[in-house]
Amino acid sequence: MQQQYKILIFGGNGWIGGKIINLLKDNKEIEFECSQSRLENRSDIEKDIDKFQPTMIINCAGVTGRPNVDWCEDHKIETIRSNVIGTLNLVDIASQHKIHVTNFATGCIYQYDQQHPMGSGISFNEEDPYNYDGSFYSKTKAMVETLLKCYDNVLTLRLRMPISDHITNEPRNFISKIIKYQRVVNIPNSMSILYDLLPISIDMTLKGYKGIYNFVNPGVISHNEILNLYKNEIDQNFTYENFSEEEQSKILKAGRSNNQLDTKKLQLLYPNLDNIQVSIQKLFQRMKSFENVNNK
Ligand SMILES: NC(=O)c1ccc[n+]([C@@H]2O[C@H](COP(=O)([O-])OP(=O)(O)OC[C@H]3O[C@@H](n4cnc5c(N)ncnc54)[C@H](OP(=O)(O)O)[C@@H]3O)[C@@H](O)[C@H]2O)c1
Repeated sequence: MQQQYKILIFGGNGWIGGKIINLLKDNKEIEFECSQSRLENRSDIEKDIDKFQPTMIINCAGVTGRPNVDWCEDHKIETIRSNVIGTLNLVDIASQHKIHVTNFATGCIYQYDQQHPMGSGISFNEEDPYNYDGSFYSKTKAMVETLLKCYDNVLTLRLRMPISDHITNEPRNFISKIIKYQRVVNIPNSMSILYDLLPISIDMTLKGYKGIYNFVNPGVISHNEILNLYKNEIDQNFTYENFSEEEQSKILKAGRSNNQLDTKKLQLLYPNLDNIQVSIQKLFQRMKSFENVNNK
């Protein structure tokens, strides 16, 4: 059978990329291939496109830093090479070939401010100017987003604090991260439940949607709300301790953004997308049954 869609994936070995591949495997209409090219190597990307002849590209490649974004503060050139030069290369080449690109970006380019105070429900929409460059990672992501606006072949999906259903072997899951912290801040934030959003990203790709979307669940949730659910549903013996943002800043190299993103644009297309408070309850039920299965 000739597949209707041919998708070339970049960053397929990463956390988000791996999940996208698993979803694509389930769709018989899609043929896909995972590029091993580095984003900064234009000729390699050209070769991949000439060979596979994709109808669309999904870009999950990008430098996020290990163990965390603090890494980017000391590796600025490597960060620019992937997140700015690399992403632009890919989109530019795809534009020359008239190929649509879905690009996973970040919503960590905003910070609560006087016009958008924490707890007010006043959120940042896709048109609001960026107001956060407290980390080099965020700075590069905002820069490249500005430049990508000049291209008409791009769908930019702004993920934030992604949460997956599994904590085992998934250290990048926001829940996996915060249950390991010795002390944790308690701030309401927009977050992305991947179970809900990654299938939407594929639907948006296949439909050829373009432009920028805040790619988070509606509403906000705080660190403590998540940790309390974790304690109630997964590990009754779990305990945690809070500290202030000022105290947190003393142990971090770079700042961390906290914000609420406006999801009206996304909800116009996907009105059934669950609010984060509902979605996280469902997630913990899935996680709980998975953990139970594993413990048998
Ligand atoms: N995880 C989060 O908390 C989060 C939040 C918001 C947005 N995002 C965005 O979502 C995207 C995917 O994140 P992730 O969590 O899946 O990250 P990840 O697990 O670190 O995966 C990133 C992938 O990109 C590849 N990559 C990096 N630089 C590359 C380059 N120059 N050329 C080709 N491949 C390159 C990496 O390959 P190598 O290891 O071989 O370099 C890796 O396979 C990133 O753009 C990230 O900024 C992530």
